[in-house]
Amino acid sequence: MSQFAPIIAEAETALAAVATINDLEQVKARFLGKSGVLTEQLKQLGKLSAEERPAAGAAINVAKQAVEGLVSSRRESILMAEQAQKLASDTVDVTLPGRGRGVGSIHPVSQTLARIERLFQSIGFEVAEGPEIETDWHNFTAMNTPEKHPARSMHDTFYLQDDDGNVREDVLLRTHTSPVQIRYMQAHMEKYAGLEVMPEIRMIAPGRVYRVDSDATHSPMFHQVEGLWVSENASFAALKGVVIDFLRQFFESDDLQVRFRPSFFPFTEPSAEIDVAFISGANKGRWLEIAGCGMVHPNVLRAGGIDPEKYLGFAFGMGPDRLTMLRYGINDLRLFFEGDLRFLSQFN
Ligand code: PHE
Repeated sequence: MSQFAPIIAEAETALAAVATINDLEQVKARFLGKSGVLTEQLKQLGKLSAEERPAAGAAINVAKQAVEGLVSSRRESILMAEQAQKLASDTVDVTLPGRGRGVGSIHPVSQTLARIERLFQSIGFEVAEGPEIETDWHNFTAMNTPEKHPARSMHDTFYLQDDDGNVREDVLLRTHTSPVQIRYMQAHMEKYAGLEVMPEIRMIAPGRVYRVDSDATHSPMFHQVEGLWVSENASFAALKGVVIDFLRQFFESDDLQVRFRPSFFPFTEPSAEIDVAFISGANKGRWLEIAGCGMVHPNVLRAGGIDPEKYLGFAFGMGPDRLTMLRYGINDLRLFFEGDLRFLSQFN
């Protein structure tokens, strides 16, 4: 038996007593470190004679290997014990409620649009759509808006460029949903071309519109809902009835006043702006503008292919963004379009 047997035995006892990797490293250093017991022995070799040295050196190395073996097998068993303990304590509590899967929510403005569509569909309106890139003719000319009208200026309207970077004057981002009136009337007349009496038109057209405008209550992109009713006996009285009824249902309240304030649009005559005031709540007493409306101008009916001598129409264009702000008490329009989930997820 080697003279180092007691040292090896001592290391074995010390290793058996450690329970953590940290303590294990300390025991390892005590025997194999820079000034460890066995390292010190190696340093003594120089004092031996040349004949004694090889055998003594070999014996120390055997002892070192033995201790290294003990250290690594102890390391393994400590790691295994740690893992076993972790597995035992990390149990899954199957009684915890599930985490759910963020399914998202419908944007508040989309909720408003769906609500508006539902209410108008219930009184026989059809939901129509038109392109957001619109022709100058549909957006302005057909809407009885003359060549020099300020709305046609570069300051108010987004025009488009051709491939060479030149501004095109014949197409633009629509500034309102009113051009859908023209498209709808034309399609309607084509569809019922053979009939003696035209079936009446009742349509709404929700969608995005664009104007060069940006502050707390204006966004360069916003929404409108166009409404159009064309028949032999459309009247301003009927327009008022439809709009007032809609607003009461939309806000689920009879506690609101509606005002038709005389105004001007090139495409309606007479024209009015529609204001609402709430009798109670946060917006109590303030008149808030929510739509424009009027009797469809004869030139607009004509552009849509309809004889203004035979038919009358009323139209309105309202702001669903504004309606959403009123319904939920929101004061900054930009919140709708910033995509901040902390805001949007409140409308689940
Ligand atoms: N198009 C008008 C606007 O954007 C609103 C409107 C529509 C007014 C229909 C009258 C009739 O301001």
